[in-house]
Amino acid sequence: MTSSALKPVQLVSVATAVPDCVLSNDELGQVVDTSDEWIFPRTGIRERRILPPDRSLVDLATAAGREAIARAQLDPMDIDIVILATSTASERFGSAGAIQGVLGAKRAVAFDLTAACTGFVFAVATAAQFLQTGCYRRALVIAADVLSRTVDWSDRRTCVLFGDGAGAVVLEAGQTAGLLGMELRSDGTGCDLLTLRNEAEPHQLTDSIQVGQYRNQFIAMNGREVYKFAVREVPEVLEKTLFHSGLEAKEVDGFFLHQANQRILDAIAARMDVPVERFASVMDRFGNTSAASIPLALADWVERGELTVGQLAVAAGFGAGLTWGAIAFRWGRLDD
Ligand code: UT7
Repeated sequence: MTSSALKPVQLVSVATAVPDCVLSNDELGQVVDTSDEWIFPRTGIRERRILPPDRSLVDLATAAGREAIARAQLDPMDIDIVILATSTASERFGSAGAIQGVLGAKRAVAFDLTAACTGFVFAVATAAQFLQTGCYRRALVIAADVLSRTVDWSDRRTCVLFGDGAGAVVLEAGQTAGLLGMELRSDGTGCDLLTLRNEAEPHQLTDSIQVGQYRNQFIAMNGREVYKFAVREVPEVLEKTLFHSGLEAKEVDGFFLHQANQRILDAIAARMDVPVERFASVMDRFGNTSAASIPLALADWVERGELTVGQLAVAAGFGAGLTWGAIAFRWGRLDD
């Protein structure tokens, strides 16, 4: 298929779901040797949300997905494909199927996609391929993570950073181009910098055969190196995405970057010579919610009227893998 035959794709709605429970920096100071004075200036994080043990990632993701479908003025039966971007599925065979079932999106094929904090960008890019080729008409992309279940709560270097949340967007094939361009990258040589591993422990099955049995490890991160990677690579991927989209940074109304650290956003904005006020920031309230952080930031701007239908946006994720990537889009349903 030539590119001229590709159908335009629009991002028509966004919604989020976060747990009610708030964990502040001061409260974390009772758990590990830390303080708001250390955390806030270095990260921009004041508090994060924590999912209670009796609620699941599927509950959170389904709530975000249901609301995104309603805001798109659609019915779950209108959805052709559900992609769940997550690194913290409770079901390792994939949680997208459970979400599809609860939503009643019976016509939709559903699967998980794992790309850490770049998951939302990779999932939107993946869903768009199905719509652009005409294979499907409408996609629900949900990005949800519950990193509170994966951190070592005695490790102050990591446990202060992460929080729980979910965000969802509906993508639709239309007449006018919403999605304008993308650039997706991976570098597996950096895979040890940020990990959430299952390690195989040996188990003697018979006299002659040993099998490995998975044991979950906590999140581990080389913060300094990941920081350097983000500040080095993200401006380049943003510039390439803008180039593919025929845009210049100064035309973009809102930048929606992965919410890992306010200092990273400040440094990237400075490198791109864009006022940092055009970079959405919600990490003070939610911390780093991995895949969910971009739709949380996007929804914040859309709900406050900071990004309106037809305005230009760029979203960029970066994180474990290493993975990073960006998409440029004109927001909203553009054919009405
Ligand atoms: O989501 C995926 C992408 N992730 C990221 O992009 C994260 C990128 N990295 C970062 O944002 C930063 O590296 C961090 C915020 C994680 C850490 O900031 P840093 O300035 O690189 O701190 P550091 O790890 O080098 O630690 C500096 C000092 C150490 O003390 P010493 O060894 O110098 O005495 C740490 O032990 O700060 C200490 N420290 C803390 N102190 C109080 C580390 N964490 C804490 C803490 N409270 N929570």
